[in-house]
Amino acid sequence: MRLRGKVAVITGAGRGIGRASAIRFAEEGAKVTVVDIRCDLGEETVQRIRDAGGEAHHACTDVTKEDEVKAMLDDTVARWGRLDILFNNAGIVAVKFLEEMSEAEWDRLMNVNVKSVFLAVKHAVGHMRKQGGGTILNTASIGSFVGQFKTPAYIASKGAVMLLTKSLALDYAADNIRVNCVCPGVVDTPMVREHLEASGDADARARERAARIPLGRFLTSEEIAQAALYLVSDEAAGVTGVAHVVDGGLLASFEYDGSWAAKEKH
Ligand SMILES: NC(=O)c1ccc[n+]([C@@H]2O[C@H](COP(=O)([O-])OP(=O)(O)OC[C@H]3O[C@@H](n4cnc5c(N)ncnc54)[C@H](O)[C@@H]3O)[C@@H](O)[C@H]2O)c1
Repeated sequence: MRLRGKVAVITGAGRGIGRASAIRFAEEGAKVTVVDIRCDLGEETVQRIRDAGGEAHHACTDVTKEDEVKAMLDDTVARWGRLDILFNNAGIVAVKFLEEMSEAEWDRLMNVNVKSVFLAVKHAVGHMRKQGGGTILNTASIGSFVGQFKTPAYIASKGAVMLLTKSLALDYAADNIRVNCVCPGVVDTPMVREHLEASGDADARARERAARIPLGRFLTSEEIAQAALYLVSDEAAGVTGVAHVVDGGLLASFEYDGSWAAKEKH
């Protein structure tokens, strides 16, 4: 087991990438605090882990609230005696032009996607330092590297998460705390499905988007969880400050058309 004896906190673990990671980390022996603002979803993740013989509990925490985040981390340490892994994964997206966004919407997005990392790291590093080290993983995006149409606030937030990751890696290296981010491409999660459905013909939109990905498909949450597992495990003991892209080849090309590629190949 790759995480035997480790204690992990995973935010946004009620569904999507966070849930898949919580299940995967627990399979590898970690005790997991499943954090989600949606209590029903968090409870369901915990139940799945317990049904499979793993150990987890749910914290119905809003990652934008300092008192709630601190209490959740302190409670994890009180419950299990340590904190080895902090995976800041909770995030939201807004598909809107900048001029259509209210100040409240901008603030909410930045708070969930960026301030949450500040708050959790602020209150986790003391625990990690005391025990001799730990590892922090943040969910950034391929949107940390390039822009995307009609999502300026989201892309700005993910750019911030990547450079926050690199800066924190420097600040805490001497404490034996590694800090990395995973940068997913298009992943088939409830977040993505909801936006496809809001855009009208979800299946047609999904096919169009998949054709622009060299591997020809959306990634699964489990594939991102697998990369996350590597980054938080001792196998990545020498890895800090990296932005680990898992995108099916999307960032490798400035222009890719799956139907054209298929014609050329056959
Ligand atoms: N799905 C993709 O294609 C994709 C691509 C790149 C990056 N990401 C990033 O991956 C992360 C997970 O995305 P997902 O697709 O699994 O999303 P998702 O919406 O399916 O799951 C996110 C979870 O975060 C929770 N959450 C939202 N706000 C919260 C808050 N304030 N406090 C606590 N929990 C909160 C939600 O309730 C939800 O359960 C996000 O940071 C997202 O930006 C996703």
